[in-house]
Amino acid sequence: MRTQVAITGAGPAGLLLSHLLHRSGIESVVLEARSRDYAEHRVRAGVLEQGTVDTLIGAGVGERMLREGLVHHGIELRFGGAGHRIAFEKLVPGRAITVYGQQEVVKDLIAARLAAGGQILFEAADVVPEGFDGPGPRVSFTVGGERRVLEADFIAGCDGFHGVCRDAIPAGVLTYFDKEYPFGWLGVLAAVAPSSDELIYASTPRGFAPHSMRSPQVSRFYLQVVPDEDIANWPDDRIWAELAARLETVPGWSLATGPVLEKGITAMRSFVAEPMQYGRLYLAGDAAHIVPPTGAKGLNLAAFDVTVLTEALAAWYSAGDSSLLDGYSRACLRRVWRAQHFSWWMTTLLHSFDSYDAYDRRLQESYLDYLCSSEAASASLAENYVGLGPHLRSDG
Ligand code: APR
Ligand code: PHB
Repeated sequence: MRTQVAITGAGPAGLLLSHLLHRSGIESVVLEARSRDYAEHRVRAGVLEQGTVDTLIGAGVGERMLREGLVHHGIELRFGGAGHRIAFEKLVPGRAITVYGQQEVVKDLIAARLAAGGQILFEAADVVPEGFDGPGPRVSFTVGGERRVLEADFIAGCDGFHGVCRDAIPAGVLTYFDKEYPFGWLGVLAAVAPSSDELIYASTPRGFAPHSMRSPQVSRFYLQVVPDEDIANWPDDRIWAELAARLETVPGWSLATGPVLEKGITAMRSFVAEPMQYGRLYLAGDAAHIVPPTGAKGLNLAAFDVTVLTEALAAWYSAGDSSLLDGYSRACLRRVWRAQHFSWWMTTLLHSFDSYDAYDRRLQESYLDYLCSSEAASASLAENYVGLGPHLRSDG
């Protein structure tokens, strides 16, 4: 088998890259370890920045998102017994977020790839990227019990944080930047209408509890829990009681409950691998960097990386110009680090830390107060939340 770009991973990064390359006349094959059904139903975050929305529309895959996505012009920060709205329409006019589940983006991209005759090989086992330090990279893998080799000009490692591409790069080439947080998130999807029109970020001494949504009938919640928490400790009635305790802190506001459709626990960490490239292997999305979900930046960063990579590959294929490929990592990392800081900052601002003493807690309260009483402070939150413009790359 031969293609121009071999892509590992059919998450948002790999699928969007494959689709953008196709629109630039570049062929690719996507190798995905899991089944199509698994990829389409894995529940993840669901906040799209304006720039990501524009990218999806520009790539011709925005139709259902425009129909079903929920456009929000603000979020609420809830703490100290009151709610405070961060008003995007006033602070960052003309920019908003769209609430649309990541698995819906994945479904739309898979449908678009298959409709255009694109190749996605699901359930590809033992994927091994090879030869990328020379001119003939290839990826070997097993499908249907048969070992096969995909030859390519380039390999795009879009196989997420636990993928194989990053670790295939020789030891000593990459520098890792890593931070773990002393808590996890219990995510809950429930068949109940959201109790709020906009997202609520509730910071309480019992822990953080964001209230999000997927549709007018489906709500999404998270609870800060201890790290390595066992989901068996969280029967549905305990989840609802804890959500109520953390969210029903404002007079007159009550939480509607309903059947839990799905629940699971995710670890929280920040991670960056630099550079995002070695030879003819390029890393994109979670394979290169992850953020805690507090700022909802993961998918948006992945979309940005693959947009930059598509432009760079297009310049190489059309004019033999390798300058954008050489600058790929640098072009991405400036935005990556802005999102790293924002996600770390939102995380430390809103969670409760066992290690905090009374002084640390006062600092946290003081910052929340400043954020909600100063237009400059809330504008900075708003600007980062809706996403900084496309200029935030090192070559622009
Ligand atoms: N071979 C092939 N595919 C693999 C392998 C492997 N060895 N290992 C992992 N994969 C697949 C996973 O099954 C998954 O479908 O790679 C895909 C990676 O997808 P994501 O984890 O969704 O990562 P990415 O596409 O970079 O998207 C970033 O995902 O984690 C969220 O919050 C994050 O929203 C962000 C987004
Ligand atoms: C989500 O809807 O899944 C979501 C929303 C906001 C966040 C994180 C996740 O900060």
